Amino acid sequence: MTVKAMTRLIPALLLSTLASASQQSFSVENARIVSQPSRPLQWGDINIISTTDTHGWLLGHEKASAPEPNYSGTWGDYASFVHHMKGLAVEKDVDLLLVDSGDLHDGTGLTDGFPPGGVDAQDSNEFFKQMPYDVLAIGNHELYKYENTLDMHRNFAPHFQGRYLSSNVNITVFDVNNKSVSVPVGSRFRKFQTRKGRSVTAFGVIFGFTTNDVNTTVQPVDDMVQEPWFLDAIADEPDLFLLVGHMPIARNKWPVVFEAIRKVHPATPIVIFGGHLHIRDCLQLDGRSMSLASGRYMETLGWMSTHASCMASRFLAHLPQASTSSQTTAPETSPSTVVTSTANRITYQYHTNRTEETFDTPQGLNITRGLEDLRDRFDLTYQYGVAPRDYTMTRAPYPSEGSLQTLIVEEAIPTVLALNTTRTGIPSLVIISAGSQRFDIYKGPFTKNDQLTASPFVNEFLYIPDVPFEAATAVLPELNRAGAERLWGQEQEEGEGEGEERQMRLWRQERAVEKGYVEWIGDMQRRYRARAGAALQGELTSGYVTEDSCPGDGDDVPHEPLPVYPVPDFIASRTPEGVDVDKVDLIFVDFIRGQVIRTLNEVQRTRVYSMADTRVYSPVLTNELLGIYAGVAWN
Ligand SMILES: *[C@@H]1O[C@H](CO)[C@@H](O)[C@H](O)[C@H]1NC(C)=O
Ligand SMILES: *[C@@H]1O[C@H](CO)[C@@H](O)[C@H](O)[C@H]1NC(C)=O
Ligand SMILES: *[C@@H]1O[C@H](CO)[C@@H](O)[C@H](O)[C@H]1NC(C)=O
Ligand SMILES: *[C@@H]1O[C@H](CO)[C@@H](O)[C@H](O)[C@H]1NC(C)=O
Ligand SMILES: *[C@@H]1O[C@H](CO)[C@@H](O)[C@H](O)[C@H]1NC(C)=O
Ligand SMILES: *[C@@H]1O[C@H](CO)[C@@H](O)[C@H](O)[C@H]1NC(C)=O
Ligand SMILES: *[C@@H]1O[C@H](CO)[C@@H](O)[C@H](O)[C@H]1NC(C)=O
Ligand SMILES: [Zn+2]
Ligand SMILES: [Zn+2]
Repeated sequence: MTVKAMTRLIPALLLSTLASASQQSFSVENARIVSQPSRPLQWGDINIISTTDTHGWLLGHEKASAPEPNYSGTWGDYASFVHHMKGLAVEKDVDLLLVDSGDLHDGTGLTDGFPPGGVDAQDSNEFFKQMPYDVLAIGNHELYKYENTLDMHRNFAPHFQGRYLSSNVNITVFDVNNKSVSVPVGSRFRKFQTRKGRSVTAFGVIFGFTTNDVNTTVQPVDDMVQEPWFLDAIADEPDLFLLVGHMPIARNKWPVVFEAIRKVHPATPIVIFGGHLHIRDCLQLDGRSMSLASGRYMETLGWMSTHASCMASRFLAHLPQASTSSQTTAPETSPSTVVTSTANRITYQYHTNRTEETFDTPQGLNITRGLEDLRDRFDLTYQYGVAPRDYTMTRAPYPSEGSLQTLIVEEAIPTVLALNTTRTGIPSLVIISAGSQRFDIYKGPFTKNDQLTASPFVNEFLYIPDVPFEAATAVLPELNRAGAERLWGQEQEEGEGEGEERQMRLWRQERAVEKGYVEWIGDMQRRYRARAGAALQGELTSGYVTEDSCPGDGDDVPHEPLPVYPVPDFIASRTPEGVDVDKVDLIFVDFIRGQVIRTLNEVQRTRVYSMADTRVYSPVLTNELLGIYAGVAWN
């Protein structure tokens, strides 16, 4: 099977002239002077708008630094967009569906900023409920905490009446007789008719996630496709199989689900909407199928349009005789087109032929207002200080002034811990895991929402006193040389305790997402450079077009991709200087203590360190750090 990935971007908007995106100041004039999407969306018989990994970004991206204004559309703007698109679908007499691939929890203050006693994303999910989704799938961020899963089961799924799918995820609850029972969180599948009378069979599948909370169950995809209920659900042939799920489209288990269906239905159109890696991605598993992943954080909307007749007839000819034979030729005519659209009001207005005056719907405005009320209720605009510049996770080299990692480990941690420890004045070295941050910090006000968005993880700072200088400085290179993977592997053997092991696995999970994202932008860079080189030699386009495994509108207006720089798995503060420094306090975040101690015992042999040697360095927790730092350094 040929699996080639190709991203498609609607050309970006130049919004740098706007003072602040949060003011929603997109005038008609602005809309005209910025470069608009290069061409209208192509409509087919069945059209699908997709979101994934929204992670609470329902007020859009509100910072003025590029490229954030590109993603400034709010959930209310999106609702207005969908309303108009539904109208256009009726006008064109075609179907328009709406799907989401999960990860609604964990990401911004709107999800994570709830007061004590609250449940993550419970309030923000009320706004999700106001969108006419046809199919939604569960993500791994719905499964880290039982109470979140339970909320999806009790409050979210019932609202969507069979549209919230968890084909391979169960939750254990007490039934009416107070007996413990395992039941699907939502529904296992959905069969429905579109407005135009087409039959659709839909599933919502998640990858083999193992860091889920107790009393939630994720069934391996390989097992799910052998379940009698699954085989039963695919027995009848619909007009379309709609697979929505929380799995990267270019890896993982989609081929397993796909092949299980293909075995029974060699020619039925299958469309796949994946997620989890936070990237825009597109590929075809065969000529009657199309897969799409729509990015993250409400930066992107996916659009797929399929021509049912093309799928059914034209591509019959492309059916490989042996199901395993590879098919490398791209179809001559597209069965469907796929684009990902950047989520902002100008894009939305362009595609719905609306102006600033005619775009907003009462419901859209109400949703944005409701989200702003929620922001106030959670006090998310509380300001700690004003960031003097952008600090990004991967767009500046590490180490450098613009690197968020550098800011955290070289400036913020040493500054803040020094204010609140009994070890004042004693030389120290701090080691933390990269990936302890979730999002960039941009120039301008640094608020409670920014702190929750950038640095949500709650960890303690521990230390071992009086570590010989030579040994302390040898730990970091050894940690990175061994690589995070090796250390994770050892975690279980060494029996560091359940809590730590779980947090390590959680970190690995999130680090994998981050690495996938970085890899994707890296690929984009390489393709861009290859293309720019070809352009210089006057050979632009032909080679690039044949590479395309997803027919339809491509990205014919190349703009420079975001820069991306790798960050090592572990990073450290500046080495303390001075001839008399022979011992230091070795400081680290609690969940890597197993690795740090093991490594310390590898780089020196004079003594054997153990957990008993660690102490709490400061009462300050990692999630408070940036706010405190902004208070002292950015005021
Ligand atoms: C976002 O906008 C900037 C200009 O502000 C542009 O250079 C960039 O290419 C855009 N990025 C994306 C991903 O659309
Ligand atoms: C959840 O798991 C715990 C421990 O495994 C068990 O005691 C408890 O009864 C379970 N809850 C439900 C709803 O079954
Ligand atoms: C249900 O059973 C659990 C233990 O399995 C117990 O803690 C709980 O109080 C019971 N609830 C009711 C309403 O009986
Ligand atoms: C999920 O729940 C269903 C319905 O109760 C049950 O039959 C099935 O065995 C459960 N699956 C798993 C993997 O726990
Ligand atoms: C866009 O809207 C204007 C004004 O309502 C209308 O005259 C025009 O025909 C529309 N264009 C398209 C392509 O629908
Ligand atoms: C307005 O939003 C609130 C929640 O913020 C919701 O309860 C209400 O139904 C909405 N009204 C309309 C007309 O959409
Ligand atoms: C030290 O940090 C803790 C936790 O944030 C805080 O409660 C306490 O007030 C701080 N003490 C000082 C002196 O800043
Ligand atoms: Zn995600
Ligand atoms: Zn995920």
